[in-house]
Amino acid sequence: MQRFLVLAALAPAASALKVTVLGGSGFVGSRVCKSLVDAGAEVISVSSSGAAPSREEWTKAVDWRKNNLLRGPREQLVEAMGQPDAVVSAVGVIGFDVQGSLLGNGVANAEGAKAAKAAGAARFVYVSVASDVTNAKGWLPLWGIGGYFDGKAQAEQAILDAGFKATTFVRPSFIYGGDSFGLFPPRVNAAYGSAVEELLSAGPIVALANALPGLLKVALRPPVSVDAVAGAAAAAALGKLDASVLDGTPAINEAAGQPKATGLSDFINGVKDKLSSATA
Ligand SMILES: NC(=O)c1ccc[n+]([C@@H]2O[C@H](COP(=O)([O-])OP(=O)(O)OC[C@H]3O[C@@H](n4cnc5c(N)ncnc54)[C@H](OP(=O)(O)O)[C@@H]3O)[C@@H](O)[C@H]2O)c1
Repeated sequence: MQRFLVLAALAPAASALKVTVLGGSGFVGSRVCKSLVDAGAEVISVSSSGAAPSREEWTKAVDWRKNNLLRGPREQLVEAMGQPDAVVSAVGVIGFDVQGSLLGNGVANAEGAKAAKAAGAARFVYVSVASDVTNAKGWLPLWGIGGYFDGKAQAEQAILDAGFKATTFVRPSFIYGGDSFGLFPPRVNAAYGSAVEELLSAGPIVALANALPGLLKVALRPPVSVDAVAGAAAAAALGKLDASVLDGTPAINEAAGQPKATGLSDFINGVKDKLSSATA
C-alpha cells in the first residue's frame, strides 16, 4: 500500500510533457532529470551506463535507459528516446584526447539530435559551454583541449541543422554543486562555489573581467550552480523560455529564477557568529 502511494505521488499527470534527457546519469543531467520530475514531466534518461545517479526518491520516477550514442543500431537509439516532446542533452566528455573530445561532444550530440528528430521531439536543449571559455581556446594551444571546443561547436551546428521547432543552448562557464570536490573532472562543492560566484559577481570584478582578454577573463567569470543550469535547461525543455542561447552565469541564473549566490556572505556571517560567541 505504502509503495503504491509513493509511486502514485511520483507518477506524472496524464497530460505531462515527455522529456528525454541524454546523459541523465551525469552531474548536470541528473539535476535536469530531478528538475523535470519536480515540474511533473514524464522523464526518460538515456546514457551509456543506464545507471540512476543515486537512490533518492525522485530517481524512481525516471526511466533509466542504456544506450551509447556512438555505438549500435540507430533504430535502437531512436527507440530508446521514447516519444518525447523535448530532448535535453547533457552529454559531453572533457579530456586532452582531440579525437575522443570530437567524438564525445560533437558526434555523440549530432547522433542524439538526429535520433531526437526521428523520435518526433519539437524542442532540443543542449548544455554547451560559455562563449568566454570557447574564445580563450587560443590560450591553450598545447593542451589538446581544442577538440572539446570544436566538438561543442559541431554539436551546436548539428542540432541547428536537425531543424527542431525550438532550440536552446545553455552555455555555462564552470559549474559547481553537490557535496564534494574533485580534480578530474574538476568539481567544487555548493558552499565553496556559491562563495566564489558571489565574489566574482561583484560589479568591479565584472568590469575588470570585461576588460581582460582570454583566460584572464575566464578566470574572473563567476561559476554557476548546477541547480541553475538544470533549472534553465528544464524550463527550456518545458517550453517556458523563448531564449535560444543562455550564455554565461547571469543569463542562466535569470532563466532559472536562481536566487543570488550568498556563499561568501554566509561564510563571513558564520565567522562573525563564532567570534562573538567565543568572546561572549
Ligand atoms: N561540469 C562543468 O563545469 C561544465 C562546464 C561547462 C560545460 N559543461 C558541459 O555540461 C555537460 C554535462 O557535464 P557533466 O559535468 O554533467 O558531465 P558528466 O558528469 O561526465 O556526465 C556526462 C553524461 O554523458 C553521458 N555520456 C557521455 N558519453 C556518452 C555516450 N557516448 N553515449 C551516451 N551517454 C554518454 C554519461 O553517461 P554515463 O555516466 O552513463 O556513462 C553521463 O551521463 C557536458 O557537455 C559538459 O561539457 C560542463
